[in-house]
Amino acid sequence: MDNTDEYLLNFKGYNFEKLITDVEHLEMMEDFEIRDDDVFLVTYPKSGTIWTQQILSLIYFDSHRNSTENIETMDRVPFFEYNIHNLDYVNMPSPRIFASHLPYYLVPKGLKNKKTKILYIYRNPKDVLISFFHFSNWVATLEATETIEHYLEKFLDGKVVGSRWFDHIRGWYEHRHDFSIMFLSYEDMKKDLRGSVLKICSFLEKELSEEDLDAVVRQATFQNMKSDPRANYGNIINKEIGARSNGYFLRKGTIGDWKHHLTVKQNERFDMIFKKNMKNFPLKFVWDMNED
Ligand code: A3P
Repeated sequence: MDNTDEYLLNFKGYNFEKLITDVEHLEMMEDFEIRDDDVFLVTYPKSGTIWTQQILSLIYFDSHRNSTENIETMDRVPFFEYNIHNLDYVNMPSPRIFASHLPYYLVPKGLKNKKTKILYIYRNPKDVLISFFHFSNWVATLEATETIEHYLEKFLDGKVVGSRWFDHIRGWYEHRHDFSIMFLSYEDMKKDLRGSVLKICSFLEKELSEEDLDAVVRQATFQNMKSDPRANYGNIINKEIGARSNGYFLRKGTIGDWKHHLTVKQNERFDMIFKKNMKNFPLKFVWDMNED
């Protein structure tokens, strides 16, 4: 049986995590005052958010990069719609860097000034699905689902946090001219982390020395993030949000894990719905590590 209502807060047609936000907070978002030097990292859940939060923290904050501070990545690049640590977003010193899963139509109006930069990270949705399935079974604020078969239906119907993946990415892409936005894929980051960090820096007009660039790349690898308590959300999930079992935010970090989970039939069903929903969509998705 679904307990969707217990976990999902539908606000203006989009599903939020009910247990870590509220309508009052969501209502203030549209008019939240934006600064030109704010940066928004936008993703659909499980697409590489924490990874890019870490990259942005390392690029922007010397003390994060040099480990002279012990501030969690989560507090350096906090979630806009989930202010878990009750930070004072209005008076936070610049540059403010927010992470968000918001759809294009719920972001602060000020983002249309086109000065504030938005980085949109996307990932092939079969890996998103599998990552989300495991994550939802681990974290206490999300609804657990016994089988992938059942989760697949929920995901395709958008009965999950983030609503329908197809709508999220299409919405942002189709409205890209309203914003100053760059699209980058998880798979690009995976295949060429250094090149991807350089692309991000160039978009954000941040210049790093070779040495600093090396430090960013080194601390953004899967293994190093997994063993860095600031970067892997372990404390937040286990001590603050709550977990149902042992697990890791940094679970596998690969391309193509879906192949180990989806049956041929499930995969065909996914492909059919993907085709229908993503017709004429120009961004390319990489489904397998060996693909170009
Ligand atoms: P898996 O569950 O497939 O391992 P998000 O932060 O948007 O919730 O995404 C989480 C996914 O990104 C997880 O995928 C996680 O392992 C992966 N991830 C996080 N950091 C990563 C890194 N440095 N390199 C590769 N993948 C990473």
